[in-house]
Amino acid sequence: MGLWSRKSITVLQREAAHEGEGGLRRTLTASNLTLLGIGAIIGAGIFVLTGNAAAQYAGPAVVYSMLAAGLACGFAGLCYAEFASMIPIAGSAYTYGYATLGEFIAWIIGWDLMLEYLFGAATVAVGWSGNFVKFLAEFGIVIPTQWTDAPIAVDAANNFSRTGATLNVPAIVLVMLMTWILVIGIKESARFNNVIVFVKIAIVFLVIGFGFMYVNTANWHPFIPENTGRFGEFGWSGVLRGAGVIFFAYIGFDAVSTAAQEAKNPQRDMPIGILGSLGICTVLYVLMALVMTGMVHYSKLNDPAPIVVAIAAAGSSLAWLRYAVEIGSLAGLASVVLVMLMGQPRVFYSMARDGLLPEIFGRVHPKYKTPHITTIMTGTIAAIVSGLFPIGLLGQLVSIGTLLAFVIVCAGVWILRVREPNTPRAFRTPLVPLVPILGILSCFGLMAGLPKDTWYRLLIWLAIGLVVYFLYSKKHSHIGRGETSHTM
Ligand code: ALA
Repeated sequence: MGLWSRKSITVLQREAAHEGEGGLRRTLTASNLTLLGIGAIIGAGIFVLTGNAAAQYAGPAVVYSMLAAGLACGFAGLCYAEFASMIPIAGSAYTYGYATLGEFIAWIIGWDLMLEYLFGAATVAVGWSGNFVKFLAEFGIVIPTQWTDAPIAVDAANNFSRTGATLNVPAIVLVMLMTWILVIGIKESARFNNVIVFVKIAIVFLVIGFGFMYVNTANWHPFIPENTGRFGEFGWSGVLRGAGVIFFAYIGFDAVSTAAQEAKNPQRDMPIGILGSLGICTVLYVLMALVMTGMVHYSKLNDPAPIVVAIAAAGSSLAWLRYAVEIGSLAGLASVVLVMLMGQPRVFYSMARDGLLPEIFGRVHPKYKTPHITTIMTGTIAAIVSGLFPIGLLGQLVSIGTLLAFVIVCAGVWILRVREPNTPRAFRTPLVPLVPILGILSCFGLMAGLPKDTWYRLLIWLAIGLVVYFLYSKKHSHIGRGETSHTM
C-alpha cells in the first residue's frame, strides 16, 4: 500500500450516493451548473486579455487563437465530462486522479488545483480592483494608489521589486465579500451567480449586437498581420502565443465538476454543465473578438479595458454602452472570483475525506451545509495573495497549474478505459484514445509556450506539496491505513 494505491470506482460511487446527512446538499440543476460554468469562465480573459493578445501577438487573428485555445479546452472538457458523470464527487480532477493514477498523483493534482482555484480567485480579484478603481475615478473618486496596487512587482527578467504601494485593498475586500456569500449557502451562491451571469451575458450580447453595426472591415485586413521577425509577434507564431494567453479566458468550465456532489442529477447534468458552458462561451468569445478587432485597429487594444476602447471608437452614439460595459465587467469579474472560491474548498473537502488533509478541512456547517471552515481559510489566503501580487505573475501560474490538471485528467480517462472498460459511464468521451491524446498534446503545447520562470514557480509549488505529502498526508491517508478499499 502506498504511493500508487488507487481508490476503486465502486467505492467512490458508493461514497457519492451515501452523502447526505452532514454532507453537501444536492440542489443544483443543469441550468444552475451551466450558469456556474459561465460564471467562472467569462471574466478577465475576455474583458482584458483579448485586447492585449490582439494588440501584442495576433491582431484580428486573435479569433484563431480563441478557436485554438477553445479546441484544447474542448478535448479536456470532453474528458472532464466523462469523469464528472462517472464519479460525481466534489474533488474534481483530484478524485479522478485518485481513481486512475494513484494517491501520489492525486495529491499532486489536488495541490496543483490550488493554483487554479485559490490563485485564480486572487488573480481575477486583482483584475476587478483595477477596473473598479478606474470606474470610480470617472466619477471623481480617487483612491490613492498606495491602497490599490500590489506592493510587489516582477519585471520581464524575473526581478522582483517593491512598488511603494502598501496593499491592494479593493481586491481584498472583494474576496472577503464573495467568501461571505459562499459561507451562507450553495443555493444562495448559485442564485447570486445566476443574476450576475445574466448581466454579464447581456453585456456581451449588447457589445456583439451593437458593435457589429460599427465594424469597419478594413480593420480586419490583413487578418493575420505579418510576423515581425520574432517568434510570437504576429504571423502564425503570434496566433499560437495568443492562444497561450487567451487560454486563461476559458478556465472555469472545469469548476463545474467541483459542484458534482451538489448536483441533483450529476450523471446527466455534469456533461451538460461542463460542455454547455464551454460551448456557449467559445461562440461568444469568437464573436466578441471579431467585433473588437473590427471596431478599432488591433494596435489600439492594449488597454486594461479594451472593450471600452472599441466602443469609444464608435463615437458618441455608443456612449451609453460604455457604462453598461464597465458595470457588467465588474459584476462579471466578481462572479468568477465567487466560483473559483467555491471550487477550492470542495477539493479540500474531498482530500480531507480521504485523510490526506486534516479532518477539519472536511467539516460542513450544520445549518448552511457548506464547507465553511475551508471556505474562510481559502478566502483569507486568496485575499492576502490578491493584496500582495501583480496580475501577470498570478495569471501565468493559474494557467500552467490548470493546464497540468487538464493533461492529467485526459490521461486518466484513457487509462481508466483500458483498465475498467466495463464500468458504466453515463457520458462517454468520443474517440478514445484520440481525444485524450489530442487533449494532452494541445494542453502541453500551451504549457510549453509559457515562460520558463512560470515553470520554475510551478515546480517550486509542487515541491512544497511533496513535503506536505510526505510529512502529513501519506501517514494519514485512509487508504494507506487500510480504512478504505482500494486497488493497486
Ligand atoms: N476564465 C476566467 C477569466 O477569464 C478565469 O476571468
